[in-house]
Formats: sequence, C-alpha cells, structure tokens
Amino acid sequence: MTTGQTKKLVIGNLKMNILSPIERGRYLKDFSKAMAGKKLTTVMAVLCPPFVHLEQFRKSIKRQDVQIGAQNMFLLERGSFTGEVSAPMLKSIGTEFVILGHSERRRYFGEDEAVVNAKLKMALKCGLAPVVCIGDTHEQRDSGDMKRILRMQIEGALEGVPGGKLEQIVLVYEPVWAVGTDILPTSNEVLEAKILVKKILTDLYGAKRTGIVRILYGGSVSARVAKQVCLDPAMDGVLVGRESLIPREFLKIAEIING
Ligand code: PGA
Repeated sequence: MTTGQTKKLVIGNLKMNILSPIERGRYLKDFSKAMAGKKLTTVMAVLCPPFVHLEQFRKSIKRQDVQIGAQNMFLLERGSFTGEVSAPMLKSIGTEFVILGHSERRRYFGEDEAVVNAKLKMALKCGLAPVVCIGDTHEQRDSGDMKRILRMQIEGALEGVPGGKLEQIVLVYEPVWAVGTDILPTSNEVLEAKILVKKILTDLYGAKRTGIVRILYGGSVSARVAKQVCLDPAMDGVLVGRESLIPREFLKIAEIING
C-alpha cells in the first residue's frame, strides 16, 4: 500500500465532472504543469476522478506524492450487480483510496450505516484505504443532535472492524451544511468535532489506537481557508470538492498544508 500512513492527506473529490477524454487531457496537463518542480513531503495528494478516468489518471501521474482514489464502490466483489464497480477492480488498476459514505451518496442514493460498514469491510479486505465521510446537517446541529449523529455514523461504519485495521482508515468530518456552500465552521468548531471523533474512537478502541486514525476536514475548502479549517485545528488533512477541479488551486491547498 502506498497510502502514506504517517502523512497528511489532501484529497480531491472531482465528483461527476471531467466529461470527455479531451477534458481529462486538459486537466492532467494542467495538473502536471502545476506540480512541476514541486515535491510534497509531509502531505500525500489524492485525486478521485470518476471511475472511467481512474486508469488514465493512474497512468499519467507517476509520482510518489500523488495517489488516486475512487468516489464509491459496491459492497461485494463480483457477480450480477448491473452497473456496479467492485473493490478488486479498483485495486487492480492502482487505486489506493476510496471515498465512502459521502453526504451526497447518503442523500441521493440512500446509503446508510449498514451499507457504509459493508463497503468499508470490503475495501479493507481488498487493500483499499477507506475515506469515510461523517457529518451533521443544519437541523441536527441546531437541535443539539450533532454528537449523537457522529457517534451513530462512526459506530455504524466501524461495526465489527478490528482495531488492527484502524491505521488504514481515514475519517472526514464533513458538515453537510458546509459542502458546496462556502459556509464554513470556525477553527474551534472543527477542533470540537475532532475531539468528539477522537472520544468516540477511544470509547470503541481505547486511547492507544485512536491516534492512528487520520481525521480530515471537508466542506468548502480553498487555499484561502486551509489554515482555518486544517492547520489551526490540527487536522490530518482535507477533502476538497470544487477547488480540486482547478489543479493549481488544489495544489496550493496541498502546499499550504505541506508547510
Ligand atoms: P466542496 O465539496 O469542497 O465543493 O464543498 C466537498 C465535498 O463534497 O467533498
């Protein structure tokens, strides 16, 4: 595995963008230009394009400090599941990470804790590092329900996962209200969420193991706010949506976090 367990992560979620080989070529060219002469030492950058582009991304980006990830996967290995893509398929073309339980998948595709849990176990079995998104909605936050929601999501995702597997797992605190909105939590709010996530992990696995899970922040991240949402609350990295569509901006974020 080349998931750089001790490094911070700057993960680009390209979502359902890059519509053709021409657009892909342009993106990869811009990425390689923006990356020229740079080396990330304390950060691993991860690009998560749509499935159809993964292999070409892998082939074009030949750098140790940049890996590729998928945005989703199915929970079984093979069989009659029309339209699905499995973990071994992803692994076989050099994918190292897979985003699971993103709020858009929870909202539009009805993914719940049980689905995230099954996918996570399959990802681990196939040697992919799961990047599990958790987060509260505005209503949940306003009604004081955030703690319960995060606990439910984390316990649900990790149900039956042995402590020995934790170092492969990445958690992203991604408040639903901050995704795609430009509304940001303060540094203190991010820090509070991180402390809460750590407490939940400690309750599940004991204090010793808690430190090895990387905890990222996600939602409206840009170079302008990287300090506020990542450096100040000492997060282990970020999940970037819109800004990852502009390689220059994505790499700016990676460099700020690289220090
Ligand atoms: P955003 O998306 O950066 O555009 O808010 C983040 C995400 O959905 O992971």
